[in-house]
Amino acid sequence: MADYEMILTERHGAAAVIRLNRPQALNALCDQLMDELARALRAFDADDSVSAIVLTGSDKAFAAGADIREMQPRSWPGTHRHDFIAPWEAVLGVQKPVIAAVAGFALGGGCEVAMMCDILLAADTAKFGQPEIKLGILPGAGGSQRLTHAIGKSKAMEMVLTGRMMDAAEAERCGLVARVVPAAELMDQAVALAQKIGELSAPAVAMAKEAVNASFELPLREGVRLERRLFLSLFGTEDQKEGMAAFNEKRKPLFRRG
Ligand code: CAA
Repeated sequence: MADYEMILTERHGAAAVIRLNRPQALNALCDQLMDELARALRAFDADDSVSAIVLTGSDKAFAAGADIREMQPRSWPGTHRHDFIAPWEAVLGVQKPVIAAVAGFALGGGCEVAMMCDILLAADTAKFGQPEIKLGILPGAGGSQRLTHAIGKSKAMEMVLTGRMMDAAEAERCGLVARVVPAAELMDQAVALAQKIGELSAPAVAMAKEAVNASFELPLREGVRLERRLFLSLFGTEDQKEGMAAFNEKRKPLFRRG
């Protein structure tokens, strides 16, 4: 993992942390940074000793968006032949839970990457926005869709059409983030959340993530069918036997790792 230049990685027991680390550009998401992020996510996803991944930035910025300097000379149809956003979807391909721990700016692509994660925890300093309209473009990594799903049409439309930012309290009120914590506690709480998930059954966690994410893509009936199949398949796991035996024997379950 030593070949990363724009991210830092750490382990805290079963929790893995990836920190975007390009402070001179407020973690602007250039091609190299996104390539490193994708590689780190894949490596942690493949590591059975990791239960969940925390993705974070600095105190000042989770990420201030796609790299505007890198984008400025790009033109169409080059952008059509080379879709520079496509590699970002690596975030969506992770089977394990990914927790975004957001302090400071999460703008444009930064907000979009945070919304690709499974749980958003915000420091009280967090600021979210989709300011692409001010650059003569629109959100390009799912912002127009995921923000609308998260906070509803009217507020999403206001954010996307004006580029205004929302603070952490507003983000919590409108359901964009799971909760807001004091900035000084952000990482401890994010790591604790990842570790707590790590105590649970890994197959059940992976399938629960798949089921919730399916609700964004499938009609209700198909989503419920998928949920039922996943639910029934978990009865083939040792963890289901252990979880239910532990409940009945009034003890803590000991789930297998991996
Ligand atoms: N791309 C490239 N560089 C960026 C950047 C970005 N998105 N955001 C900040 N930086 C750079 C600045 O150019 C500056 O570099 P220099 O010191 O070399 O001049 C450095 O980071 C510090 O930034 P500021 O001096 O601007 O810091 P500030 O505290 O005054 O302002 C800010 C902070 C409000 C976040 C401001 O930097 C800003 O508005 N950034 C751009 C936000 C934005 O428009 N994001 C959307 C990008 S488009 C996109 O993401 C497309 C998509 O949907 C995929």
